[in-house]
Amino acid sequence: MSAPAGSTPEGWAPVRLRSTRRPAPDGGAAAGTDAALCDRYGRIHDDLRLSITDRCNLRCTYCMPDGVEFQPRHQLLRFEEIVRVAAVAHRLGVQAVRVTGGEPLVRRGVVDLVAALSQVGFDDLSLTTNGMLLEPLARPLAEAGLRRVNISCDSLRPDRFTAIRRRGDLGTVLGAMDAAEAAGLGPVKVNVVLVAGVNDDEVEDFATFARTTGRPVRFIEFMPLDAPGAWQREAVVDAASVLRRIGRRWALEPVAAADPSAPAERYRFVDGAGEIGVIASVTRPFCGTCNRLRLTADGAVRNCLFGTDEVSLRDLMRQGADDATLADALRAAVGAKLPGHGINEPGFLRPARSMSMIGG
Ligand code: 5AD
Ligand code: SF4
Repeated sequence: MSAPAGSTPEGWAPVRLRSTRRPAPDGGAAAGTDAALCDRYGRIHDDLRLSITDRCNLRCTYCMPDGVEFQPRHQLLRFEEIVRVAAVAHRLGVQAVRVTGGEPLVRRGVVDLVAALSQVGFDDLSLTTNGMLLEPLARPLAEAGLRRVNISCDSLRPDRFTAIRRRGDLGTVLGAMDAAEAAGLGPVKVNVVLVAGVNDDEVEDFATFARTTGRPVRFIEFMPLDAPGAWQREAVVDAASVLRRIGRRWALEPVAAADPSAPAERYRFVDGAGEIGVIASVTRPFCGTCNRLRLTADGAVRNCLFGTDEVSLRDLMRQGADDATLADALRAAVGAKLPGHGINEPGFLRPARSMSMIGG
């Protein structure tokens, strides 16, 4: 984070000072009163990412080293602590919650947690998963109030899938996509992290997959958040080249975003066969419209994936803090948010935590 406060944020597009999501029933916070989580650049934070565990049943090469060590369980937030923070955030105007990890489905009792979060009354409740454990959980999760899932899948070739993820198998993940749709958790978005020389020869295959299954495939630029520190700029497959390649085979047209804060730029196939998206976090940062706030599995609030500051809400809660104190801490985190992540600037410092610890 090297951009000085007050400079032009990366990817700044001063089109959105307020979310398009409908205001909370109390009308207050989300409608832009003092209570809203609005930062110094006018960005209203109404989207909360909850990482509920740093553990994972896979070891994707771009994310976790094989011998990764996880945090002791007592350091993780208990479910009631997670729900308490979510409820405080909801009163401050947060409308959407995404449950992430690590791999959220490895945490025992995740269905109960989803049910409790659903009771808080968010407009949207979603989950990002690697799909390995989803098949039997899809229906219970849907019944608990989950609305939709994003499933990660970095290769459509079984051998390569397992090589990238070091464990797991493609068949299980494809089965999970079917199960999610059958349970009403669709449309299932498929996340593909492209790494140059590893899976970038599958761009057209994934586009075909999007066309034949109707599942929006989103190509994500590899970000410097990998725990092993393997990221290099040369490994990033830029979104523009992905769009060029797909566009050479099939005509594409942009889809107007229903939510201007959504990081994916969406494109539909002109012949009507589905859509794809790109998440160009590195080459076309979308910090200017970022509406996200994150809670790590150990209870730290973070205002940016790439931020270096954190405040431990877990420590506050375990010291007996009341909800007003938690609300102040959330407001302070948003108030301290910088305009952009600074990946493309010379002084960029990569965060000490990886994606699996922060929560995508
Ligand atoms: N860069 C980009 N995406 C990543 N993910 C995990 N690590 C990285 C990284 N370094 C993806 C996962 C998942 C989502 C939560 O983030 O594959 O789709
Ligand atoms: Fe697990 Fe997701 Fe990281 Fe892969 S990318 S190791 S599935 S947390």
